[in-house]
Amino acid sequence: MSAPNHPAPETFLLDGRPIPFTPGQTLMQAAQAAGVYIPHLCHHADFDPIGSCKVCSVRIQGRTVASCTMPARADLVVESETPELHHDRQRLTQMLFVEGNHHCPFCEKSGACHLQAVAYHLDMQDTHFVHTAPHHEVDATHPDVWLDRSRCILCELCVRASREVDGKDVFAIGGRGAHTTLLVNSPSGQLHDSDVAVTDRAVHICPVGALMPKRQGFVIPIGQRPYDAADIAQRPEDS
Ligand code: SF4
Ligand code: FES
Repeated sequence: MSAPNHPAPETFLLDGRPIPFTPGQTLMQAAQAAGVYIPHLCHHADFDPIGSCKVCSVRIQGRTVASCTMPARADLVVESETPELHHDRQRLTQMLFVEGNHHCPFCEKSGACHLQAVAYHLDMQDTHFVHTAPHHEVDATHPDVWLDRSRCILCELCVRASREVDGKDVFAIGGRGAHTTLLVNSPSGQLHDSDVAVTDRAVHICPVGALMPKRQGFVIPIGQRPYDAADIAQRPEDS
């Protein structure tokens, strides 16, 4: 009996390298499956993409698209590691730094923060823009969960995790422009009378130090955290 005939997977080109994909995969999903890193912040493998941060942008025949939302198609010619895209990603990352409280040495998430790790990966040496740091409320009202909105990069991962994994819908994004912020769905608008629990996926998925469990300081010593040791591009298992 002859062996079943498996057709070769379709591929697209990413910076000249053929990347196999299965129908329905995005460029980001196929690249990650092939072990190729495309910088990103709002993408997470466990959730449908929302395409908001634009850090994952790539170029296809002169067009800029978010690789986390763009479906893979055979024979696409995709550019990611170009000087122009590197520059754009740096500027987007710098903008996030100046719009929030991202003073890494004072943040418990340092060494495990995706924003910091992406900045290191992009060799970001300064913040380029003038710091704006608009005022955002800290919510320390819950016994076990802490929310510092001034560090929130509005990736909506906690929103998606609360809704899709925890089945609770605790978080939402609201407001406009510089006043866009993370809202808590509770009678007071604070965490203490919301449905959130410290065991929720939403509390542990934040890529920065905005939403975190309390009393976790220095559980992993500085120097032993994931991105202290390895560039984020070398950790394909992360998001
Ligand atoms: Fe994303 Fe964290 Fe802000 Fe939630 S609190 S939107 S997970 S950055
Ligand atoms: Fe694609 Fe944020 S990771 S837009």
